[in-house]
Amino acid sequence: MSQQTFILNGKSITVDVHDDVRVLWVLRDLLGVTGPKYGCGINVCKACTSHINGRAFNPCSVRVGDLAPTTR
Ligand code: FES
Repeated sequence: MSQQTFILNGKSITVDVHDDVRVLWVLRDLLGVTGPKYGCGINVCKACTSHINGRAFNPCSVRVGDLAPTTR
C-alpha cells in the first residue's frame, strides 16, 4: 500500500491505496464521491466520466498510481 496524493475538487487529498487500484474505486469507495458511475469498467460507456486538470477522462481505466503527483 502506498500513499497517493492528488487534487480533488480543489483540495489536496492523500489516500493509502495500492498503485493499481482504478481511480473510479478510489473516488467512490474511499472518498465517497458517487457522481462517477460504474458502467462497463473498460473505458467504453463513459458512465464514469470525470475531469482531471480540466480534461475529461474515464477513471475506470486509470490506475491511481498513474496520476501525476501534485505540486502543492
Ligand atoms: S465505467 Fe464505462 S467508461 Fe468507465
